[in-house]
Amino acid sequence: MRIVLGIESSCDETAAAVVRDGREVLSSVVDSQIALHRPHGGVVPEIASRRHVEVVDEVILGAMREAGVGWGDIDAVAATRGPGLASSLLVGWSAAKGLARRLGAPLCAVNHVLGHIHSVFLTAGAPEREAVFPFVALAVSGGHTALYRCEGPRRARMLGRTVDDAAGEALDKASKLLGLGYPGGPVIDRLAKTVADKHCTFPHTNLRPEAVEGSGLDPALCFSFSGLKTSLLRRLQTEGAPADDAARAELASEYQEAVVDTVIRRVDRALRGGERTLAVGGGVSLNSRLRERLAELCARRRVRLLLAEPRYCGDNAAMIACAAAYGEGIWGEEALALDVDPTWEV
Ligand code: KG4
Ligand code: ZN
Repeated sequence: MRIVLGIESSCDETAAAVVRDGREVLSSVVDSQIALHRPHGGVVPEIASRRHVEVVDEVILGAMREAGVGWGDIDAVAATRGPGLASSLLVGWSAAKGLARRLGAPLCAVNHVLGHIHSVFLTAGAPEREAVFPFVALAVSGGHTALYRCEGPRRARMLGRTVDDAAGEALDKASKLLGLGYPGGPVIDRLAKTVADKHCTFPHTNLRPEAVEGSGLDPALCFSFSGLKTSLLRRLQTEGAPADDAARAELASEYQEAVVDTVIRRVDRALRGGERTLAVGGGVSLNSRLRERLAELCARRRVRLLLAEPRYCGDNAAMIACAAAYGEGIWGEEALALDVDPTWEV
Protein backbone atom coordinates (compact mmCIF):
# COMPACT_ATOMS: atom_id res chain seq x y z
CA MET A 1 0.00 0.00 0.00
CA ARG A 2 1.75 3.17 -1.07
CA ILE A 3 -0.62 6.09 -1.32
CA VAL A 4 -3.78 6.22 0.78
CA LEU A 5 -6.47 8.89 0.62
CA GLY A 6 -8.06 9.25 4.06
CA ILE A 7 -11.43 10.81 4.83
CA GLU A 8 -12.81 11.72 8.27
CA SER A 9 -16.19 13.24 9.23
CA SER A 10 -17.21 11.57 12.49
CA CYS A 11 -17.99 14.70 14.47
CA ASP A 12 -17.47 18.38 13.67
CA GLU A 13 -14.40 18.30 11.45
CA THR A 14 -14.44 17.48 7.75
CA ALA A 15 -10.99 16.17 6.88
CA ALA A 16 -9.09 14.56 4.03
CA ALA A 17 -5.43 13.59 3.76
CA VAL A 18 -3.05 11.86 1.42
CA VAL A 19 -0.44 9.71 3.14
CA ARG A 20 2.45 7.84 1.51
CA ASP A 21 3.74 4.59 3.01
CA GLY A 22 1.65 5.10 6.14
CA ARG A 23 3.90 7.77 7.63
CA GLU A 24 4.60 10.53 5.12
CA VAL A 25 1.75 13.03 5.15
CA LEU A 26 1.60 14.59 1.67
CA SER A 27 -1.42 16.69 2.67
CA SER A 28 -3.85 17.01 5.55
CA VAL A 29 -6.82 19.34 5.16
CA VAL A 30 -9.21 19.94 8.07
CA ASP A 31 -12.34 22.07 7.89
CA SER A 32 -13.21 22.80 11.51
CA GLN A 33 -16.76 23.73 12.45
CA ILE A 34 -15.95 25.07 15.92
CA ALA A 35 -17.16 28.59 15.07
CA LEU A 36 -20.52 27.18 13.86
CA HIS A 37 -21.14 25.24 17.08
CA ARG A 38 -19.72 27.78 19.54
CA PRO A 39 -22.96 29.81 19.90
CA HIS A 40 -24.70 26.55 20.94
CA GLY A 41 -22.04 25.59 23.49
CA GLY A 42 -21.55 22.16 21.90
CA VAL A 43 -21.80 20.20 18.66
CA VAL A 44 -25.25 20.32 17.05
CA PRO A 45 -25.58 17.19 14.86
CA GLU A 46 -27.84 18.78 12.22
CA ILE A 47 -25.48 21.70 11.74
CA ALA A 48 -22.50 19.34 11.61
CA SER A 49 -23.89 17.07 8.91
CA ARG A 50 -25.05 19.95 6.75
CA ARG A 51 -21.60 21.54 6.88
CA HIS A 52 -19.94 18.20 6.05
CA VAL A 53 -22.12 17.93 2.94
CA GLU A 54 -21.25 21.48 1.92
CA VAL A 55 -17.48 21.12 2.19
CA VAL A 56 -16.59 17.45 1.76
CA ASP A 57 -15.88 17.67 -1.99
CA GLU A 58 -13.71 20.75 -1.62
CA VAL A 59 -11.82 19.25 1.33
CA ILE A 60 -11.03 16.08 -0.65
CA LEU A 61 -10.06 18.03 -3.77
CA GLY A 62 -7.94 20.31 -1.60
CA ALA A 63 -6.06 17.36 -0.11
CA MET A 64 -5.42 15.94 -3.59
CA ARG A 65 -4.22 19.30 -4.89
CA GLU A 66 -1.95 19.93 -1.91
CA ALA A 67 -0.45 16.45 -2.15
CA GLY A 68 0.26 16.95 -5.84
CA VAL A 69 -0.98 13.50 -6.77
CA GLY A 70 -3.52 12.41 -9.39
CA TRP A 71 -6.50 10.11 -8.96
CA GLY A 72 -4.56 7.35 -10.66
CA ASP A 73 -1.94 7.48 -7.89
CA ILE A 74 -4.40 6.57 -5.13
CA ASP A 75 -3.87 2.95 -4.07
CA ALA A 76 -6.63 2.86 -1.44
CA VAL A 77 -9.38 5.01 0.02
CA ALA A 78 -9.80 4.87 3.82
CA ALA A 79 -12.59 6.49 5.78
CA THR A 80 -13.97 6.63 9.29
CA ARG A 81 -16.97 4.34 9.62
CA GLY A 82 -17.52 4.91 13.36
CA PRO A 83 -17.83 5.63 16.17
CA GLY A 84 -19.34 9.10 15.92
CA LEU A 85 -22.49 10.94 14.93
CA ALA A 86 -24.43 8.87 12.38
CA SER A 87 -25.41 11.80 10.17
CA SER A 88 -21.84 13.11 10.17
CA LEU A 89 -20.20 9.73 9.53
CA LEU A 90 -22.53 9.12 6.57
CA VAL A 91 -21.13 12.06 4.62
CA GLY A 92 -17.47 11.01 4.62
CA TRP A 93 -18.22 7.31 4.43
CA SER A 94 -20.50 7.72 1.39
CA ALA A 95 -17.96 9.97 -0.33
CA ALA A 96 -15.27 7.34 0.27
CA LYS A 97 -17.44 4.53 -1.04
CA GLY A 98 -18.24 6.48 -4.19
CA LEU A 99 -14.61 7.36 -4.78
CA ALA A 100 -13.34 3.84 -4.19
CA ARG A 101 -15.85 2.44 -6.68
CA ARG A 102 -15.04 5.10 -9.24
CA LEU A 103 -11.27 4.65 -8.89
CA GLY A 104 -11.41 0.88 -8.64
CA ALA A 105 -9.31 1.23 -5.48
CA PRO A 106 -9.87 -0.84 -2.34
CA LEU A 107 -11.95 0.79 0.38
CA CYS A 108 -10.96 0.55 4.05
CA ALA A 109 -13.38 1.14 6.94
CA VAL A 110 -11.35 2.59 9.81
CA ASN A 111 -12.35 2.87 13.45
CA HIS A 112 -11.98 6.48 14.57
CA VAL A 113 -10.39 5.55 17.91
CA LEU A 114 -7.81 3.32 16.22
CA GLY A 115 -7.10 6.35 14.05
CA HIS A 116 -6.35 8.47 17.13
CA ILE A 117 -4.05 5.75 18.45
CA HIS A 118 -2.17 5.59 15.13
CA SER A 119 -1.71 9.38 15.02
CA VAL A 120 1.45 8.97 17.13
CA PHE A 121 3.18 7.16 14.24
CA LEU A 122 2.90 10.30 12.11
CA THR A 123 5.36 12.09 14.40
CA ALA A 124 8.79 12.57 12.82
CA GLY A 125 11.21 10.13 14.38
CA ALA A 126 8.50 7.91 15.89
CA PRO A 127 9.46 4.23 15.97
CA GLU A 128 7.86 1.77 13.57
CA ARG A 129 4.65 0.42 15.02
CA GLU A 130 5.76 -3.19 14.67
CA ALA A 131 8.80 -2.42 16.83
CA VAL A 132 6.75 -1.29 19.85
CA PHE A 133 4.19 -4.11 20.21
CA PRO A 134 2.80 -4.77 22.73
CA PHE A 135 1.98 -1.22 23.81
CA VAL A 136 -0.63 0.53 25.91
CA ALA A 137 -2.73 3.18 24.13
CA LEU A 138 -4.79 5.98 25.60
CA ALA A 139 -7.40 7.67 23.41
CA VAL A 140 -8.55 10.83 25.13
CA SER A 141 -10.82 13.28 23.34
CA GLY A 142 -14.16 15.04 23.45
CA GLY A 143 -15.98 11.86 22.49
CA HIS A 144 -13.75 9.08 23.83
CA THR A 145 -11.69 8.18 26.84
CA ALA A 146 -10.39 4.63 26.79
CA LEU A 147 -7.31 2.50 27.36
CA TYR A 148 -6.20 -0.33 25.09
CA ARG A 149 -3.51 -2.96 24.97
CA CYS A 150 -2.29 -3.17 21.38
CA GLU A 151 -0.91 -6.66 21.17
CA GLY A 152 -0.09 -6.88 17.47
CA PRO A 153 -1.47 -5.91 14.06
CA ARG A 154 -5.29 -5.83 14.22
CA ARG A 155 -5.16 -6.93 17.84
CA ALA A 156 -6.17 -4.05 20.12
CA ARG A 157 -7.93 -5.06 23.32
CA MET A 158 -9.89 -2.57 25.40
CA LEU A 159 -8.69 -2.40 29.00
CA GLY A 160 -11.03 0.30 30.26
CA ARG A 161 -13.28 3.12 29.16
CA THR A 162 -15.38 5.92 30.53
CA VAL A 163 -18.76 4.89 31.84
CA ASP A 164 -20.22 8.36 31.31
CA ASP A 165 -18.54 11.51 29.93
CA ALA A 166 -15.28 11.63 28.02
CA ALA A 167 -12.44 13.70 29.52
CA GLY A 168 -12.83 16.43 26.88
CA GLU A 169 -16.57 16.49 27.43
CA ALA A 170 -15.95 16.92 31.18
CA LEU A 171 -13.71 19.92 30.47
CA ASP A 172 -16.18 21.36 27.96
CA LYS A 173 -19.08 21.07 30.43
CA ALA A 174 -17.08 22.65 33.24
CA SER A 175 -16.12 25.49 30.95
CA LYS A 176 -19.77 26.09 30.22
CA LEU A 177 -20.59 26.13 33.96
CA LEU A 178 -17.77 28.59 34.55
CA GLY A 179 -18.89 30.78 31.65
CA LEU A 180 -15.61 30.27 29.80
CA GLY A 181 -16.95 29.31 26.37
CA TYR A 182 -16.59 26.41 23.94
CA PRO A 183 -14.54 24.29 23.48
CA GLY A 184 -13.52 24.31 27.13
CA GLY A 185 -10.35 22.21 27.05
CA PRO A 186 -8.04 24.85 25.55
CA VAL A 187 -9.49 27.67 27.71
CA ILE A 188 -9.16 25.70 30.94
CA ASP A 189 -5.64 24.64 29.95
CA ARG A 190 -4.67 28.28 29.40
CA LEU A 191 -6.26 29.51 32.66
CA ALA A 192 -4.79 26.68 34.71
CA LYS A 193 -1.30 27.63 33.53
CA THR A 194 -1.65 30.90 35.47
CA VAL A 195 -2.07 28.97 38.73
CA ALA A 196 1.25 27.91 40.24
CA ASP A 197 -0.03 25.76 43.08
CA LYS A 198 -1.43 22.64 41.41
CA HIS A 199 -3.69 21.25 44.10
CA CYS A 200 -7.16 19.78 43.91
CA THR A 201 -9.97 19.69 46.44
CA PHE A 202 -12.42 17.80 44.23
CA PRO A 203 -13.08 14.24 45.37
CA HIS A 204 -11.62 11.39 43.34
CA THR A 205 -14.15 8.98 41.80
CA ASN A 206 -13.34 5.30 42.10
CA LEU A 207 -15.69 3.07 40.16
CA ARG A 208 -17.58 0.35 41.93
CA PRO A 209 -17.47 -3.06 40.21
CA GLU A 210 -21.24 -2.85 39.54
CA ALA A 211 -20.60 0.14 37.27
CA VAL A 212 -18.85 -2.04 34.69
CA GLU A 213 -20.54 -5.35 35.44
CA GLY A 214 -20.75 -7.66 32.46
CA SER A 215 -18.26 -5.66 30.43
CA GLY A 216 -15.27 -7.78 31.40
CA LEU A 217 -13.37 -4.55 32.12
CA ASP A 218 -11.38 -3.81 35.26
CA PRO A 219 -13.21 -1.02 37.15
CA ALA A 220 -9.83 0.36 38.24
CA LEU A 221 -9.06 0.99 34.54
CA CYS A 222 -12.42 2.63 33.80
CA PHE A 223 -13.18 6.33 34.00
CA SER A 224 -16.08 8.38 35.31
CA PHE A 225 -16.29 12.15 35.05
CA SER A 226 -19.96 12.95 35.64
CA GLY A 227 -19.56 13.05 39.44
CA LEU A 228 -16.82 15.61 39.10
CA LYS A 229 -19.02 17.83 36.96
CA THR A 230 -21.78 17.55 39.59
CA SER A 231 -19.27 18.49 42.34
CA LEU A 232 -18.39 21.62 40.41
CA LEU A 233 -22.05 22.47 39.89
CA ARG A 234 -22.79 22.03 43.63
CA ARG A 235 -19.83 24.16 44.53
CA LEU A 236 -20.99 26.94 42.24
CA GLN A 237 -24.49 26.66 43.70
CA THR A 238 -23.34 26.86 47.32
CA GLU A 239 -20.41 29.24 46.95
CA GLY A 240 -21.70 31.28 44.05
CA ALA A 241 -19.84 32.14 40.83
CA PRO A 242 -16.10 32.87 41.22
CA ALA A 243 -15.66 36.44 42.49
CA ASP A 244 -12.84 37.38 40.14
CA ASP A 245 -10.52 36.09 37.42
CA ALA A 246 -8.09 34.68 39.97
CA ALA A 247 -10.83 32.65 41.66
CA ARG A 248 -12.08 31.43 38.27
CA ALA A 249 -8.58 30.35 37.26
CA GLU A 250 -8.14 28.59 40.60
CA LEU A 251 -11.35 26.62 40.08
CA ALA A 252 -10.43 25.78 36.48
CA SER A 253 -7.02 24.58 37.63
CA GLU A 254 -8.44 22.37 40.38
CA TYR A 255 -10.96 20.87 37.96
CA GLN A 256 -8.27 20.19 35.37
CA GLU A 257 -6.12 18.58 38.06
CA ALA A 258 -9.00 16.26 38.90
CA VAL A 259 -9.50 15.27 35.25
CA VAL A 260 -5.79 14.80 34.60
CA ASP A 261 -5.27 12.87 37.83
CA THR A 262 -8.13 10.51 36.97
CA VAL A 263 -6.48 9.77 33.63
CA ILE A 264 -2.97 9.42 35.07
CA ARG A 265 -4.03 6.96 37.79
CA ARG A 266 -5.61 4.65 35.20
CA VAL A 267 -2.67 4.86 32.83
CA ASP A 268 -0.28 4.14 35.69
CA ARG A 269 -2.27 1.06 36.57
CA ALA A 270 -2.56 -0.08 32.93
CA LEU A 271 1.23 0.08 32.63
CA ARG A 272 1.60 -2.45 35.45
CA GLY A 273 1.28 -5.05 32.69
CA GLY A 274 4.94 -4.30 31.91
CA GLU A 275 4.53 -2.78 28.42
CA ARG A 276 7.45 -0.53 27.48
CA THR A 277 5.53 1.94 25.30
CA LEU A 278 2.55 4.23 25.81
CA ALA A 279 0.81 5.87 22.82
CA VAL A 280 -1.53 8.79 23.51
CA GLY A 281 -3.86 10.40 20.97
CA GLY A 282 -6.96 12.59 20.83
CA GLY A 283 -7.79 16.26 21.34
CA VAL A 284 -7.24 16.22 25.12
CA SER A 285 -3.69 14.96 24.61
CA LEU A 286 -2.97 18.60 23.66
CA ASN A 287 -3.44 19.49 27.33
CA SER A 288 -0.17 20.81 28.72
CA ARG A 289 -0.73 19.52 32.25
CA LEU A 290 -1.66 16.05 30.98
CA ARG A 291 1.49 16.02 28.83
CA GLU A 292 3.56 17.03 31.84
CA ARG A 293 2.10 14.32 34.06
CA LEU A 294 2.37 11.68 31.32
CA ALA A 295 6.03 12.55 30.83
CA GLU A 296 6.66 12.24 34.59
CA LEU A 297 4.83 8.94 34.79
CA CYS A 298 6.63 7.45 31.80
CA ALA A 299 10.01 8.61 33.08
CA ARG A 300 9.31 6.99 36.44
CA ARG A 301 8.14 3.75 34.84
CA ARG A 302 10.87 3.84 32.17
CA VAL A 303 8.24 3.65 29.47
CA ARG A 304 8.59 5.28 26.05
CA LEU A 305 5.91 7.94 25.59
CA LEU A 306 4.58 8.45 22.07
CA LEU A 307 2.47 11.56 21.53
CA ALA A 308 0.94 12.91 18.36
CA GLU A 309 2.04 16.22 16.92
CA PRO A 310 -0.46 18.97 17.88
CA ARG A 311 -1.96 19.10 14.38
CA TYR A 312 -2.72 15.35 14.54
CA CYS A 313 -4.13 15.32 18.10
CA GLY A 314 -7.57 16.58 17.14
CA ASP A 315 -9.68 14.95 14.46
CA ASN A 316 -7.87 14.65 11.13
CA ALA A 317 -7.76 12.26 8.20
CA ALA A 318 -4.01 11.56 8.16
CA MET A 319 -4.44 9.31 11.20
CA ILE A 320 -7.20 7.42 9.36
CA ALA A 321 -5.00 6.88 6.31
CA CYS A 322 -2.15 5.84 8.62
CA ALA A 323 -4.23 3.19 10.43
CA ALA A 324 -5.36 1.83 7.04
CA ALA A 325 -1.80 1.74 5.72
CA TYR A 326 -0.87 -0.37 8.75
CA GLY A 327 -3.53 -2.84 7.66
CA GLU A 328 -6.13 -2.02 10.30
CA GLY A 329 -9.82 -1.83 9.48
CA ILE A 330 -12.18 -3.73 7.21
CA TRP A 331 -11.20 -3.92 3.56
CA GLY A 332 -12.49 -4.34 0.03
CA GLU A 333 -15.87 -5.85 -0.88
CA GLU A 334 -16.67 -6.39 2.78
CA ALA A 335 -16.16 -2.68 3.47
CA LEU A 336 -18.23 -1.64 0.44
CA ALA A 337 -21.17 -3.58 1.85
CA LEU A 338 -21.00 -1.82 5.21
CA ASP A 339 -23.04 1.05 6.56
CA VAL A 340 -21.68 3.51 9.14
CA ASP A 341 -21.59 2.30 12.75
CA PRO A 342 -22.01 5.15 15.29
CA THR A 343 -21.08 2.87 18.21
CA TRP A 344 -18.37 0.76 16.55
CA GLU A 345 -15.97 -0.55 19.19
CA VAL A 346 -12.32 -1.22 18.57
O1 KG4 B 1 -10.10 14.67 19.20
P1 KG4 B 1 -11.02 15.82 19.18
O2 KG4 B 1 -10.71 16.96 18.23
O3 KG4 B 1 -12.48 15.37 18.84
C1 KG4 B 1 -13.07 14.21 19.33
O4 KG4 B 1 -12.86 13.10 18.75
O5 KG4 B 1 -13.76 14.35 20.36
O6 KG4 B 1 -11.12 16.37 20.68
C2 KG4 B 1 -11.85 17.50 21.03
C3 KG4 B 1 -11.75 17.70 22.54
C4 KG4 B 1 -12.63 18.80 23.09
O7 KG4 B 1 -13.35 18.30 24.19
C5 KG4 B 1 -11.64 19.87 23.53
O8 KG4 B 1 -12.09 20.63 24.64
C6 KG4 B 1 -10.44 19.04 23.89
O9 KG4 B 1 -10.39 18.05 22.90
N1 KG4 B 1 -9.19 19.82 23.88
C7 KG4 B 1 -8.43 20.01 24.98
C8 KG4 B 1 -7.36 20.85 24.60
N2 KG4 B 1 -7.51 21.13 23.27
C9 KG4 B 1 -8.63 20.49 22.86
N3 KG4 B 1 -8.58 19.56 26.23
C10 KG4 B 1 -7.66 19.93 27.13
N4 KG4 B 1 -6.62 20.74 26.85
C11 KG4 B 1 -6.43 21.21 25.61
N5 KG4 B 1 -5.40 22.01 25.36
ZN1 ZN C 1 -11.70 12.16 17.63
